[in-house]
Amino acid sequence: MSRKGFTPRRTAPGRAMTDEALGARLRKITPAVLRGESRGWSYFDGPSGTQMIEPAIAATAELSRTGLANRSNPSPAGDETEYVVASARAELQAMFHADAYDVAFGQNMTSLAFALGHAFARRWPRDGGTVVVTVLEHSGNVDTWAQPFAERGVRTATIDVDDRTLDLEAGGYDRVDTGGGVALVAVTAAANSVGVKPDVASAHDFARAHDALFVVDGVHATPHGPLDLADADPDVYLCSAYKFYGPHVGIALIKRDLLDELRPFKVVPAPDSGPDKLETGTQNHEAIAGLSAAVCALGGLAGRPSGEGARDVLHALGEVDEEVARGLAEDLRSLAGVRVFGHEDDKTTYAPTIAFTVDGIPPDEVGVALRRHGVFVTTGDFYATRLARRLGVDASGGWVRVGLSGYTSREDVDRLLGSLSRVVGDRAARA
Ligand SMILES: Cc1ncc(COP(=O)(O)O)c(C=O)c1O
Repeated sequence: MSRKGFTPRRTAPGRAMTDEALGARLRKITPAVLRGESRGWSYFDGPSGTQMIEPAIAATAELSRTGLANRSNPSPAGDETEYVVASARAELQAMFHADAYDVAFGQNMTSLAFALGHAFARRWPRDGGTVVVTVLEHSGNVDTWAQPFAERGVRTATIDVDDRTLDLEAGGYDRVDTGGGVALVAVTAAANSVGVKPDVASAHDFARAHDALFVVDGVHATPHGPLDLADADPDVYLCSAYKFYGPHVGIALIKRDLLDELRPFKVVPAPDSGPDKLETGTQNHEAIAGLSAAVCALGGLAGRPSGEGARDVLHALGEVDEEVARGLAEDLRSLAGVRVFGHEDDKTTYAPTIAFTVDGIPPDEVGVALRRHGVFVTTGDFYATRLARRLGVDASGGWVRVGLSGYTSREDVDRLLGSLSRVVGDRAARA
């Protein structure tokens, strides 16, 4: 197996040792990964959900232990719940440089997006127009807007990708039929399938030029580098804490002035103002406590236990992982019959997430075979259904996807490569 292009993890020239230490420190506080290590397991399924870090687990348990309450309860537990929600919102505002945004929690990204989609469609002033998405999207950033707007006769236009780089095609936005107006532009900050990080700024400029709402799906990007919202200027940024070492909580950051005028569907007695009006029913307060703890513990890895610290740590981890992924993509490509999608262009940036196929072995069989080696990957279309169709892998079971997370070690990467080369070799020997 060729080792050409393989960059030893966290020891790349010029890379600060602190980055190496960050990944190792993160690993040390991730119990499931340590348990896996003792069994010879390697987790490459971070894109479908990272393992939770100990402080997040502890905080979730701690709130449950000390007492749970609804927000308005006149009790110590009620006060604690108020504090948990307010501090989680504040840390997230710091993490995303989002002073102009309110933070709403929900079951997951998809539920929040549907709630927003219905509220946005409701205020669209006419029948007709266009919602613009890209072919890179997870369905959670397409159907959630397209379906509510379709009720108002709004069509959906999809920006295509370049065949080789899988980045958004040049001039794609210029070719959109904007007759009837553009209602909403949605783009992912990183594709959860092939890793591409498209140019969010071009989507922003198109949205602003057409007075459209601008939504960024940050679910896959956040664990590798949270967007700076003061800079990217979306109306809405969505993400999910279970993708960045926390519990299952969806997060929506919404521009405050937009939220003020929004009328989401909600039960009548629920608050009419602030992020609470989007949060249907009682929230998962214990998980929100875990989310806050995850953010602070991430920042704490670099001595700054705060949203601002978490932001820097995730960026630092993402940078290293992206470099390792560049070498890994080359190594995967050198295996007979392995076809890697994207990751072969210096000008395009990719999250450390690689989708590939193996000639003659369906993705789910590759996944099961790797599992026998203690290597856990994910297979399928990952709800990136339009891209799977566009690239012709939908009928053959999609892709095999490997995702690097901050806690991925060099040994994990070596185990993946060794195991996959055996899986591919076994197949060749049988053929
Ligand atoms: C890029 C992207 N967007 C949206 C989602 C949906 O997130 P959730 O599971 O929080 O609804 C996912 C989940 O995998 C994703 O990867």
